[in-house]
Amino acid sequence: MKKKKSIAAPRLLRGMKDILPDEQQWFEAIREHVRAFARDFNFERIDTPVLEPMALFVRAVGDDTDIVQKEMYSFVDQGGDHISVRPEASASVIRAYIEHGMVNLPQPVKLYYFGPMFRHERPQMGRFRQFYQLGYETVGDAGAVSDAEIILLGERLCRSLGIMPRIQLNSIGDENCRPAYETMLKSYFRTHKAKLCETCKHRLLKNPLRVLDCKETDCVAIAQGAPQAVDNLCDPCKKHFTQVLEFLDDLGLAYDLNPKLVRGLDYYTRTVFEYWSTDERFGGQLALGGGGRYDKLAEQLGGRHTPVVGFALGVERLVLLMRELQSYTLPAYEPDVFIAPLGDQARKKALHVFDALRAAGIKVRHAFTKDGLSAQLGLANRYNVKYTLIIGQQELLDETVMVRDMVNGSQEVVGFHKIADDIRKRLQKAKNASASAEEHHSEK
Ligand code: HAM
Repeated sequence: MKKKKSIAAPRLLRGMKDILPDEQQWFEAIREHVRAFARDFNFERIDTPVLEPMALFVRAVGDDTDIVQKEMYSFVDQGGDHISVRPEASASVIRAYIEHGMVNLPQPVKLYYFGPMFRHERPQMGRFRQFYQLGYETVGDAGAVSDAEIILLGERLCRSLGIMPRIQLNSIGDENCRPAYETMLKSYFRTHKAKLCETCKHRLLKNPLRVLDCKETDCVAIAQGAPQAVDNLCDPCKKHFTQVLEFLDDLGLAYDLNPKLVRGLDYYTRTVFEYWSTDERFGGQLALGGGGRYDKLAEQLGGRHTPVVGFALGVERLVLLMRELQSYTLPAYEPDVFIAPLGDQARKKALHVFDALRAAGIKVRHAFTKDGLSAQLGLANRYNVKYTLIIGQQELLDETVMVRDMVNGSQEVVGFHKIADDIRKRLQKAKNASASAEEHHSEK
């Protein structure tokens, strides 16, 4: 007999990952915090497409950045359009702001998002080719108070997830003062050119700022003595940065002034910042997120002058820390009731009871695929429910349900139609009793 050829099952692409139910709980917890912070800080949700014109990112993120040069997933579609799978979302938010005339809304327009981004990077701990970002952008305000509010929001959001980030802060000036600073940087680095890595030699030509955050040992040493952006700001940029620092100081928000922080995207002006985990388990310097002001982007994309400040946090990195540091306890789902039918006929009724209880807001578990009372009671115990509702032959005939109190083992028969009401009352009674016991205890 001819041997059947075995076919290899398709596998995940490198750098991609499935988010299985176990991990979904962490994503969901983060989503809930993101929503709550958006509500508190008055941000509204925006969703933009994953596919955008390639030109959007080339213009916004910068032609000479790693993202555009090496990391974007781009293709020509069936209609001949040059498309990119978004590597980040700020450019899309500003595209949408311009396209939908949001300039006519009361300013600033405060928007947030949560979604997948794509970068063809070398995968490593906390780095994937598809990853999720949550981000907040305050569009249409130039004031330092908006920078401070955004920095505060990111810090407080991390904290609410049990992560204490170190804020890294810098100002990289604007179109008035940065050219002179870049010239100064170029001439400084040129005197050390022989020792710079090949990438930095290239960076020196077009983007000398990026030499400052190169990780190569020689480049790090050379960057140590480089002139600093904050010493070369024009007066308006200096004033803006001083105000941002005053706001943060006043809030008591600790930060590190980091002259090497320049960020990897070209659109930034003035304030730039990152949130770092300095825990040694994650290499001592893991960027959880970053952002800054980008006051020129809207104009670069063909819109009116629109100052913006925002940030994005990497969701996988937050999950990694929350799990490893055990810094956050997931909210537990504690069911009140377990339903245990005995046999096929009872199962029909049980599904009905389940639906009625659920609709009444009662938290229910069941294992309708299981047979036998003891297996189901075992599960009910594991779920730690207060009551198990047993439906056997007799109950079917009588149109009743047997309510078993899982604490004292007592059992009571309740009419099928009254069950949701009955359980709700029991649960309320138990809640009142435990509240008054607590009150009594705290009075003592
Ligand atoms: P970014 O620094 O490129 O900024 O990305 C922000 C965060 O996304 C990073 O700090 C990191 O946590 C996460 N991240 C980036 N790449 C990966 C990856 N390959 N795998 C896992 N996580 C990753 C931006 O994207 C800007 N749009 C942020 C911004 C918003 N600036 C102003 N508004």
